[in-house]
Amino acid sequence: NDKIPKERTLDSSLALLSEGYLFIPNRCKKFQSNIFQTRLLGGQKVICISGEEAARIFYDREKFKRKGAAPKRIQESLFGKNGVQTLDGKEHQHRKRMFMSLMTPERLKILIKLTVEQWELAARKWENTKEIVLFDEAREIMCRVACLWAGVPLKEKEVTQRATDLSDMIDAFGAVGPRYWKGRQARNRSDKWIGDIIRQVRSDKMDAPVDTALYTMAWYRDLDGKLLNLQIATVELLNIVRPIVAIARYITFGALALHDYPETRKKLQDHSQHYGQLFVQEVRRFYPFGPFLGARVRQDFIWEDCHFTKGTMVLLDIYGINHSPDLWEDPDNFLPERFNDWKGSPFDFVPQGGGDYIKGHRCAGEWITIEVMKTSLAFLTQKLAYDVPKQDLSISMVRMPAIPKSRFVMRGIKVK
Ligand code: HEM
Repeated sequence: NDKIPKERTLDSSLALLSEGYLFIPNRCKKFQSNIFQTRLLGGQKVICISGEEAARIFYDREKFKRKGAAPKRIQESLFGKNGVQTLDGKEHQHRKRMFMSLMTPERLKILIKLTVEQWELAARKWENTKEIVLFDEAREIMCRVACLWAGVPLKEKEVTQRATDLSDMIDAFGAVGPRYWKGRQARNRSDKWIGDIIRQVRSDKMDAPVDTALYTMAWYRDLDGKLLNLQIATVELLNIVRPIVAIARYITFGALALHDYPETRKKLQDHSQHYGQLFVQEVRRFYPFGPFLGARVRQDFIWEDCHFTKGTMVLLDIYGINHSPDLWEDPDNFLPERFNDWKGSPFDFVPQGGGDYIKGHRCAGEWITIEVMKTSLAFLTQKLAYDVPKQDLSISMVRMPAIPKSRFVMRGIKVK
C-alpha cells in the first residue's frame, strides 16, 4: 500500500475529536486524495475514503461487512447491541424487510397526520409563553409522534424524560465524558421501558395495534422461525422510536436556514409542495449530522491502487461527500434549487447513507424523515408567526452531533 497517503501517527483519535466533521475532508484536501490511511480506535489501521465512487464500493456487499464494525461505545449508546445495523447478508435482508414493511404510503399518511396534530397542540401552548427553545420543543413533539405512530403507550408525565433519553442516545455518538455517560444511562432506561412493553404485549397484558412497529417487533420471526429475543426486539423498536426523535435536529436546522436565508421563507410559503422537497433535501445536504460510516473489509480487493485486506476498518466520509466540490457546485452555499438538477444517484447525496434500502444499510427512515420535515417546516412557515431574538446560532463542527448553540430560541409566537 505504498501508493496511498498515510498519516504518520500512533493514533489520530485526538485529531478526530478536535476536527469533528472535517477530520476526513481536511486530510483529503491536504493529501489531494480521496483515500488515505490513518490510525484510530486504539491505534487500529483505518482507511478513510470519500467521493461517489468510494460510496459505491462501500455499499458493495461482496467487499464490505458490518459485523464487528460498530465500536462498543457506539453500541452501548446510539445503536444498541445486535440490531439491524450489525447484520450482513440474508439475515440483514430479512430483518430490513421488516423495517421497510412499516414504511408504506398508508403508514406514512398516518405519521403525517399525527405530526400536524402534535404541532398544533404544542403551538397553542406557546402563544402564552414568552419564548421557547425550538429544538427542545421539537424533541417532545417528535417523541409524542413517534410513540403514537409506533403503538408505544406514553403517559403525559413521562414525555419529558422519554424525549430526553431518546435524544441523549443520539447526542452521545461523538462524545467523550459526561455527554457519553448520559447517553449510556438513557440507553439503559429506554431498554427497560421498551423491554417491559414488549413483554406485556407477548404475555397478552397489553394490546398492540396491528400494523404498528410495536406489534411488528413483538411478533416478528427471524430466519430461524423464532421470535426475536427480548433484548433484540427492544433494540429494534428503539431503532424506530429514537430516530424519529432525531428528526427534531433537522427541523431545527430547517428553522435556522429559514432565518439565515430569508428569501427561502417566502418560496416555502408560496410553493410548499415542490419547493418544500428542494428545501428539505438541501437542509439534509448542507447541515452536519452523520460524519462518516464504518464497515470492515469482507475479503481482499484492490481499489484505487490500494490493497484492502480482510478485516480492515474503512470509514466513508458522508459529510464530505455532501460537500464535495467535485459533486456539488458551490457546496458551501445553501441553494435548494440545486436539487432541480440532481440526477438522484444513490451514491452522491448520502446524509442517511447510500445504496439500496433492502440489500444494503441505507437508512430505513429516509422517506419518513423527508415527509416529517416537509410537514413540520410547512407548519412553521404557514401557521406560525414568530420573532428570532439575538442569540448564538453558531454551529460547532467539532461537536458531533452538531446543533446550533442556542438551539433556536423563538419569541412572540402567534398561531395564524
Ligand atoms: C440507518 C441517518 C432517521 C431508521 C441510518 C444510517 C444513517 C442514518 C447515516 C446508516 C446508513 C448505513 O449504515 O449505511 C439518519 C438521519 C435521520 C434518520 C440523519 C434523521 C434525523 C431515521 C428514521 C428512522 C431510521 C426516522 C426510522 C423510523 C434507521 C434504521 C437504520 C438507519 C433502522 C439501520 C438500517 C440498516 O442497518 O440496514 N440512518 N436516520 N432513521 N436508520 Fe436512519
